[in-house]
Amino acid sequence: MTNTSKPVDDRVAFVIFGVTGDLTKRKLLPALYQLNREGRLPSNLDIVGFARRPWDKDYMQQVLLEGIQDFARVKPIDQKIVDDLLENSVYLESDFHEIDGYNKLNKYLYEKGYRKIIFYLAAPPEAYQIIIKNLAVCRDYALNKEYVRIVVEKPYGRDLQSAQELEDDLHACFSEEQIFRIDHYLGKETVQNILVFRFANGIFEPLWNKNYIDHVQITVAESVGVGTRAGYFDNAGVIRDMFANHLLQLVTLTAMEAPYAFNAHSVRDEKMKVLQSLRPLKGNSAIQNTVRGQYKQTAINGETLPGYLQEERVNAGSITETYMAARLFVDNWRWANVPFYVRSGKRLPARKTEISIQFKQVPLSLFNWENMAGEAPNVLVLRLQPDEGINLSFGAKLPGRENKIAPVTMEFQYQEAFGGEPPEAYERLLLDVLVGDQTLFTRHDEVIEQWRFTTDILDAWGESSVISLPQYEITSWGPDEANEFLSADKRKWRNNH
Ligand code: BG6
Repeated sequence: MTNTSKPVDDRVAFVIFGVTGDLTKRKLLPALYQLNREGRLPSNLDIVGFARRPWDKDYMQQVLLEGIQDFARVKPIDQKIVDDLLENSVYLESDFHEIDGYNKLNKYLYEKGYRKIIFYLAAPPEAYQIIIKNLAVCRDYALNKEYVRIVVEKPYGRDLQSAQELEDDLHACFSEEQIFRIDHYLGKETVQNILVFRFANGIFEPLWNKNYIDHVQITVAESVGVGTRAGYFDNAGVIRDMFANHLLQLVTLTAMEAPYAFNAHSVRDEKMKVLQSLRPLKGNSAIQNTVRGQYKQTAINGETLPGYLQEERVNAGSITETYMAARLFVDNWRWANVPFYVRSGKRLPARKTEISIQFKQVPLSLFNWENMAGEAPNVLVLRLQPDEGINLSFGAKLPGRENKIAPVTMEFQYQEAFGGEPPEAYERLLLDVLVGDQTLFTRHDEVIEQWRFTTDILDAWGESSVISLPQYEITSWGPDEANEFLSADKRKWRNNH
């Protein structure tokens, strides 16, 4: 039960703009519920829903309850914990453009005497700027508190210029220490483990450079299509949806130097240096170092699945990519001329996110034997999801008198070692917002640098005369062009089967 004896001014107001949307229902409430279940949430956190639909408090509570019932990580749910979470929640109905709504919000927070306020932008991205601008009316009370935080969901802008504008608006009301930009990949346990694996262990770091590594592959594959999100996706594409944020963040964690300490400042400084070292992809070099594709109508087990162009709310003749691959170079001493091949796509054969580090082959081959492990058998694979774990493959002598080398693997499985599934990214991230730890959030300069790099590619694509994209079958690993892209470098995508 909520401790009602707590003074009201010690309560946390968790204001959700866009409380009626999918994100609130699928991610935020299930995560808040789980945290409450584990006793990690301040017992005095109150949800203040803000959205334009004509809902009331009871209806909002009912929808949020359904969200928890459907999407909670641990079931069955405990109704007492839900009641406790929703107990003091309220719903404020307002259009995001309506200044009165913000006055009402400010007044409500003032009357209740909240001193700790979190604003969460779970609204459609096109509403961000207007919400942030209108929030300025809360200056006299809500923004004027020592404990005020704003959480911003990606996408932060759609290119360098709009990102800069959004950042300017944010900074007009909030200091950088108050802004929590979510890239939910950073909240994934296995993504955080990249740094632990690299910097809490001595054995791989000496090898983690151009002297021993041939190339790196980063795959973020999804089996789902764009589904009901086509309206948003057709204006974004994989480049804005996945590349400009999740993929580039995975590159930074893989490539960064050891920070001087594990804190928000130093970790983000090191990630920033990687972004600054990315070799720019402009004009022709952007075209040569990227591949795009779209999934096409495909018959699977007698059922015809729609291609991207047939999905509802996709513009006729759209050239928005549902698959993208890129060849990146981190131009610094550690990584000089080591390609980072990154790819992400919808409607691929499986949901799979992994980083694989391909080590170089031995300097001289001694065994004139049949070698089924291949000339460069050493691949370290960080399996981020699903089947979380890490494996290292190498060649071993096949037992017996015949001289043969076979591929084998050393294996760490998250589930086997720690039991159970890793917690949801949002659980960790929401907790970090509450305690004010920004390590796992993207900093202003990172966002700008990500967009600077990505906008060059977008410009080059925009200027090219392409009128249709290479098509790939649903459940294939992308267009043929993606395979040719690597075979031109005498390399292959891992697991392309
Ligand atoms: C989101 C993208 O950021 O990440 C979605 O907008 C994508 O298009 C999703 O499906 C993938 O996240 P996860 O956690 O399922 O890998």
